[in-house]
Amino acid sequence: MNQFIAGLPKVELHLHIEGSLEPELMFALAERNQIAIPYRSPEEVRAAYQFHNLQSFLDIYYQGANVLIHEQDFYDLTWAYLLRCKADNVVHTEIFFDPQTHTERGIAFETVVHGIHRALEQGRTELGISSQLILCFLRHLDQDAAFRTLEQAMPHRDKIIGVGLDSSELGHPPEKFKDVFEKALEAGFLTVAHAGEEGPSQNIDNTLDLLGATRVDHGVRCVEDPALVARLIREQVPLTVCPLSNLKLKVFESMRDHNIVELLRKELCVTINSDDPAYFGGYMTDNFQAVADAHPMSREEIAQFTFNAIMASFISEEEKQRLTQLTRNYLESF
Ligand code: HPA
Ligand code: ZN
Repeated sequence: MNQFIAGLPKVELHLHIEGSLEPELMFALAERNQIAIPYRSPEEVRAAYQFHNLQSFLDIYYQGANVLIHEQDFYDLTWAYLLRCKADNVVHTEIFFDPQTHTERGIAFETVVHGIHRALEQGRTELGISSQLILCFLRHLDQDAAFRTLEQAMPHRDKIIGVGLDSSELGHPPEKFKDVFEKALEAGFLTVAHAGEEGPSQNIDNTLDLLGATRVDHGVRCVEDPALVARLIREQVPLTVCPLSNLKLKVFESMRDHNIVELLRKELCVTINSDDPAYFGGYMTDNFQAVADAHPMSREEIAQFTFNAIMASFISEEEKQRLTQLTRNYLESF
């Protein structure tokens, strides 16, 4: 099965580009930009990645992002991620970026977008990996800050397909951002949001009803409300689940306890994603493998995660059909 998983075409829908910053690159950029970091080696950085909840991770994650200063840094970060995509047979990826993490430090919005976009374009031409870019508002900041960020995004409508919502879910529910999401929808952005990761299942309902979300990021706490589960099945709302992230942040105690395969078998549109792979110990193949090791599945079931992700992606119908056929051919050839 390992070989089947490694070669399976994959589509990633939940990846924070700042969360793909490997300790080695963090060190190189710290040196290049003369930024002090509180570690002596990449090994020491890795040893610090012991988290007990979402907030304990976020504190370290925002600190890591401080080494990103120039357009070239954002390009290097994104290019390194795309090379990992290539190695894992990721054929399409929709990545998040957190502009406020950078603009709050005085980095221009353009610096961030241009660096990421340049790497994504090169990924398309040189690696054959298609992609989309999604801007995430930081939910621990207020809605006025999100409005200002949306303003900054307006000239880049051609490069940014949608807006999302990340950071601390507890205490910052979706309703806090209702107005800015309404404005983003009016401007033609698609919307998604993190919900039901650490927060209650009500956040998932409100994300759909108040933010107009076409996908829910994480969403694993939906099982606490049977009516919501029935809705997610009926409406085929995609959930972008991140198994190794959930394990590292103690959303589940063990991979055996993770509910993703149970949700798959109930025919929810669940997908597998890596979230912040440099911090959580694995990219796409590692996430698929960890789920399959803990929950024996047929090849058809494993491939269903890719079929679901294709359906849930922000690409044209033609492109969806092409990727579906590619995956079907792979499944049949095995
Ligand atoms: N949850 C919320 N915010 C985040 C995450 C996450 O998993 N990763 C990066 N920012
Ligand atoms: Zn996330």
